[in-house]
Amino acid sequence: MPPDGRSTAEEASYPWKVLGADAEALRSAMGHFPTGVTVVTSGREERAEGMTANAVVSVSLDPLLFLVSVHRDARLNARIKEEGHFAVSLLADDQEGLSRLFASPERSSGPQAVHSLGGGYGSTGDPLAAGALAAIECELAETYAGGDHDLFLGRVVGVRLGDTRKGPLVFHEGGYPSLGPAGGPAETGAFMDSVRGFDARIGRRPRR
Ligand SMILES: Cc1cc2nc3c(=O)[nH]c(=O)nc-3n(C[C@H](O)[C@H](O)[C@H](O)COP(=O)(O)O)c2cc1C
Repeated sequence: MPPDGRSTAEEASYPWKVLGADAEALRSAMGHFPTGVTVVTSGREERAEGMTANAVVSVSLDPLLFLVSVHRDARLNARIKEEGHFAVSLLADDQEGLSRLFASPERSSGPQAVHSLGGGYGSTGDPLAAGALAAIECELAETYAGGDHDLFLGRVVGVRLGDTRKGPLVFHEGGYPSLGPAGGPAETGAFMDSVRGFDARIGRRPRR
């Protein structure tokens, strides 16, 4: 092995910046992974809580299962455990303000939160965000400990679509970038598979 710690010519050929296995490193790496943004809610009227979340996964289609990861200290965490159900509103590109509001520790709970969301209640009795692209309504099936978060696995009992003509709200590198103008280039690049030697060209669907 050469003195710089690189073991093969292939490893040396890509300029990796090796970070420690710590929270800052993981945060830094994942900052380059764009996600959609949701507001997860649980409880009605005085008991309503909402929180911005991007650690959400559509886990299984048979049975229908959906997972959200919520910090153990977040107000929403205890509320989901108490209520046994939650709803996930998938935010649209004009809802950055709602995302910022529900990621703020100063935000209101209860009727004020329901009012800010503006979408009434779903079939599980949890508040929904008006203007969202879609909402997933879940009964809590399992709770798994995940370090400083809990993983809430929900049985999906309702799905609804909102104004799907809008694009999604995207979170990337700590901000909310626009996906860019409608249309875009017909070809966004080519990838040459070094083993099989094929050239896969990926076209972008025009946005409505
Ligand atoms: C885009 C975005 C995504 C987030 N995703 C999550 C998440 O998946 N789980 C989580 O626990 N907190 C997430 N947060 C942080 C919480 O929204 C924020 O810390 C909130 O204030 C926590 O609730 P609390 O004030 O009741 O503690 C996210 C924040 C932002 C801006």
